Amino acid sequence: MTARPLIYAANWKMNLGPQDAAAFLDRFLELTAPQPDRSLWFFPPAVSLATVAHAVRPRPDILVGAQNVHWEPKGAFTGEISIPMAQEAGAEVVLIGHSERRHLFGETDDQVARKTAAVLKAGLRPLVCVGETLAEREGGRTEQVILRQLEPLLDKVASADWGRLVVAYEPVWAIGTGKNATPDDAAQVHELIRFALGRRGVSGRLPILYGGSVSAKNVLALLARPELDGVLVGGASLDPDGWAELVGLEAAP
Ligand code: PGA
Repeated sequence: MTARPLIYAANWKMNLGPQDAAAFLDRFLELTAPQPDRSLWFFPPAVSLATVAHAVRPRPDILVGAQNVHWEPKGAFTGEISIPMAQEAGAEVVLIGHSERRHLFGETDDQVARKTAAVLKAGLRPLVCVGETLAEREGGRTEQVILRQLEPLLDKVASADWGRLVVAYEPVWAIGTGKNATPDDAAQVHELIRFALGRRGVSGRLPILYGGSVSAKNVLALLARPELDGVLVGGASLDPDGWAELVGLEAAP
């Protein structure tokens, strides 16, 4: 029996410029071989996109993506990159609505939905992040927050397009804190997302990744839950040896 397909996504955030990215890939490609049940997605900073895309060209199991894009194709938007530019640099996927974009840079649910629709229209795959803060979780508002974040997406993305979307559940309190959600907690929110999509006539069969302090120590326990289709990883994806180990781990038969 083949295992379900898994996505291992590396979010490098503001780390690894072109030179470091090239050195990372040299080492990582040496350490890994394609595996039929998993694809590896890299989100380098925009300035390293072309370098990474070039390095992974011989590896069809690896996709490269932008960490953020603007929804307009061009114009007076200092500091932003457009979808056609990201595409030209080799991006096939785009990370959208990461909690750092939402909380540090004020990105709204509506902007996340606009970006997602634009990315889909351009033929790329969006990886859209949702997740609650600690105060929201402790206040019993996790479900309400996730549903609020999904709502504009459900309005702007046609149900036929949802098949190309990937969602990442990343509780804000778990990101970069060393405190991951338990497999049960993560699975529960993944179910909620599928339920919310189903209620609006969208097939819940899209991949849903978990992110937030994923490491080589906890990844197998998380992925043991069938509700999880992969992981989105920050800190543990920055070292080629560590990341190669994590993406190669297999559950004991
Ligand atoms: P982390 O980050 O793995 O360092 O917690 C995850 C993310 O922000 O996507």
